[in-house]
Amino acid sequence: MFEAKALPKNAGKAEVYESLAQQLSGLVDGERDAIANAANMSALIYDLLPDLNWAGFYFMRGPGLVLGPFQGKPACIRIPVGRGVCGTAVERRTSIVVPDVHAFPGHIACDSASRSELVVPLIRGGAVLGVLDLDSPLPNRFDEADRIGCEKLVEIYLAASDLPDDRG
Ligand code: SME
Repeated sequence: MFEAKALPKNAGKAEVYESLAQQLSGLVDGERDAIANAANMSALIYDLLPDLNWAGFYFMRGPGLVLGPFQGKPACIRIPVGRGVCGTAVERRTSIVVPDVHAFPGHIACDSASRSELVVPLIRGGAVLGVLDLDSPLPNRFDEADRIGCEKLVEIYLAASDLPDDRG
């Protein structure tokens, strides 16, 4: 049984993400299934990062994003490229930190509790394969340390998983 290693309350973000990266590497070790690894990664992030109300994946399927494994309330299923924070991250091929979702034009509200958001695209071989999306009920929850930390987690996920390039 996997036991997530709790972090001290006063741990800094660098320390938190270092521990998350180590635990994620252990979780995905020996498993190449992209859905199973995404499910466990969502659960690990949701369990260990404070002040989240949603953590999960969308994958590119044909022309747009489709909901993947996640933790949190049920979410919108399909997001066109260029729409919302997730679709914009795909279009720009870069991570997006949104301090105030109400100030982001076109933000898609899946959970009305969400106040800030971080989206990291999954990019392999030049192709965007999906996104990792984190939502928080606190405004301004995510900063550069979160972006860098989550990009590292996505790297570990991509290296470990056989993710089909299914852009249609
Ligand atoms: N807020 C996202 C939609 C996904 S949910 O937050 C889970 C967006 O604007 O793309």
